[in-house]
Amino acid sequence: MPICPPPPETSGSGGRAWIFHGLALGAAAAAAAAAYLYRRPRGFRSLAVGIIPARYASSRFEGKPLALILGKPMIQRTWERVMLASSLDHVVVATDDEKIAECCRGFGADVIMTSVSCQNGSERCCEALQKLRKHYDIVVNIQGDEPLIEPEIIDGVVMALQRAPDAVFSTAATALKPEDAFDTNRVKCVVDNQGYAIYFSRGLIPFNKSGKVNPHFPYLLHLGISGFDSKFLKIYPQLAPTPLQLEEDLEQLKVLENGYKMKVIKVDHDAHGVDAPEDVEKIEALMRARNIQ
Ligand SMILES: *[C@@H]1O[C@H](CO)[C@@H](O)[C@H](O)[C@H]1NC(C)=O
Ligand SMILES: *[C@@H]1O[C@H](CO)[C@@H](O)[C@H](O)[C@H]1NC(C)=O
Repeated sequence: MPICPPPPETSGSGGRAWIFHGLALGAAAAAAAAAYLYRRPRGFRSLAVGIIPARYASSRFEGKPLALILGKPMIQRTWERVMLASSLDHVVVATDDEKIAECCRGFGADVIMTSVSCQNGSERCCEALQKLRKHYDIVVNIQGDEPLIEPEIIDGVVMALQRAPDAVFSTAATALKPEDAFDTNRVKCVVDNQGYAIYFSRGLIPFNKSGKVNPHFPYLLHLGISGFDSKFLKIYPQLAPTPLQLEEDLEQLKVLENGYKMKVIKVDHDAHGVDAPEDVEKIEALMRARNIQ
């Protein structure tokens, strides 16, 4: 892998400069910044495609992408958010299911049919990329179960790969809520002082000597969005599973265990993933409270 100088600072100074505040930016400022960035002559890794993998079968929530959230299918809500990202040249839904495909075409999405045998989202993205038959430098895998994903987070993940040529993978993390510290479904991560991932775990990392959550430590919660260098995505599913990946059941550890670099952007994001049918009501209550239609 090439050794590259530290990536240019995004703004401000010092070690905090790489921190990307998704919500704090404000829509107008974000739009202005994005318009500036993407009207420039095309540079390194400039072509990006967003892929939303969606499968019908799910152990915890059958037919999840079609579940209605305040009257609109969840996959449509996710797609509408993704379409607002200014860094993407193309957005597609990748699915193995005709019902999902039909629904998506109905609201105007591009759909790529992928095989039922895809084991996970990145395998589905990899297959979809091959079927697109067009070159992209960056592929963003947006999980369809975060209908409130901010487009600024997607843009941040794309920019991270454009600014860190030595990274092949990028992702996002946000502040961990203390009540999620020992929840093994909430993945924690630690990064170095330039924002490169050191490790991901289902356990609490770092682990305080006291055995308790340190209320003063800025723990990070990993969010389910990944940006891939497209050349890396093509080999990624073929890399053999690695010991830490298997032990934690965390796919992204395979990237680190093979010695590749991964950039993590920090964002302000209130995670509201929909994993089980009972999560639908929770997210609807939150949307009503925030007046989201
Ligand atoms: C552990 O957490 C406590 C607060 O709960 C903090 O005072 C301390 O500095 C942390 N680190 C160590 C090594 O104890
Ligand atoms: C997807 O899952 C399969 C089987 O669990 C695993 O072998 C493969 O490494 C995973 N894909 C990636 C990209 O990690």
